[in-house]
Amino acid sequence: MKPDVMADGIYRVAAKIGNRDLFEGIWPIPHGVMLNAYIVKGSEKTAMIDLVKDWDGASEAVDRQLDELDSNNGNLDFLILNHMEPDHTGAMVAFVEKHPNVEILCSDKAVALIRHFYKIEKNVRPVKDGETIDLGGKTLKFFMTPNIHWPETMMTYAVEDRILFSCDAFGSFGQYEHCFDDELTLRERTLLEGETERYYANIVSSFSSFVLRGIAKLADLPISQVAPSHGVVWRGEPEKIIAWYKSLATYMDGPREKEITVIWSSMYGNTAALVPFVVEGAESEGLKVHVLEIPQTHASFVLEKAWRSEGLVIGMPTYEYKMFPPMYHILDLLERSHVQKRKTMRFGSFGWSGGAQKQFDVFSETMKLDCVGVVEYQGSATEEDKKRAYAMAKEMARQIRNA
Ligand code: FEO
Repeated sequence: MKPDVMADGIYRVAAKIGNRDLFEGIWPIPHGVMLNAYIVKGSEKTAMIDLVKDWDGASEAVDRQLDELDSNNGNLDFLILNHMEPDHTGAMVAFVEKHPNVEILCSDKAVALIRHFYKIEKNVRPVKDGETIDLGGKTLKFFMTPNIHWPETMMTYAVEDRILFSCDAFGSFGQYEHCFDDELTLRERTLLEGETERYYANIVSSFSSFVLRGIAKLADLPISQVAPSHGVVWRGEPEKIIAWYKSLATYMDGPREKEITVIWSSMYGNTAALVPFVVEGAESEGLKVHVLEIPQTHASFVLEKAWRSEGLVIGMPTYEYKMFPPMYHILDLLERSHVQKRKTMRFGSFGWSGGAQKQFDVFSETMKLDCVGVVEYQGSATEEDKKRAYAMAKEMARQIRNA
């Protein structure tokens, strides 16, 4: 890859990560992910904003681009770390060896993390909210934006060029040939649609109240480009990604899309037998319904759909007196991600005894779910069970539609 010119003296140095690994060791990235770092050159000094991790050739790719910018000879003045997660700092030890005099600027809270992760203390200087540095015709200003998505996170703003370097915020999964939103192909735009929402649901959703706080804090800032550390640089429509993130963050407490996500699992088909009736009932009110079978579908994709949907249907059998284990895993993730206050119903079969519902009730309470009802039955579903499932899903959809 070549460095991308964002403005006079401002460049993106990026790496494309393939699909072999899981992101954060948990989330699949079938379309890969970008690691973006940035170079800002003033007339006197040069700063690098964020790093990469030595992952799938990222360090070498970024090194080559730094060579092209003549910024790889120990001649960088500042390393600005907006966020300490290792996908943006993993290459730090090697970087500091190559740039022994670089001054590392970060938030107060990041100082200890730099020490713990990389045993580096020299030349580390915490910056304050609103503090600026002058590179010579290029001013960088720092904004503390805690918990988007770690407590130490901050953003860096290039004042003269009005570029916001937002690190994880406003990011997306996916690998893109083009750097900027206004030069994407149709295929890339389609990919970006899905991969922004899945990234948000997987990585950021838990911190939605902080996202809203951060967006409010930056509301008066003139922004010509949003430059996140994953995904594309938003140059054509920077306001679009900010508004999009605001909508995604709003899903936490609502309102959300008038859609229903049906998450179901079955051991021998007795719970599966009700799925078509539930789907038909929900669709009969004109709502869009997402149907996801687990564990066949990875939690990443389940979370994406559940996050946006006003309605949540859980279909699962009892397994050894408790919830079906793959569904426990899903509900645990949904709860952690603050999927809450959804209109909900549950259905499922049991053999010798029930038990799933009792455990589900605990999740239901913690997640503040508004449960319209339960269809639970021993063995196989009767015609009456099927009718009840249809009617319950229809009623749930009606309530969502009319809310
Ligand atoms: Fe892309 Fe929170 O690291």
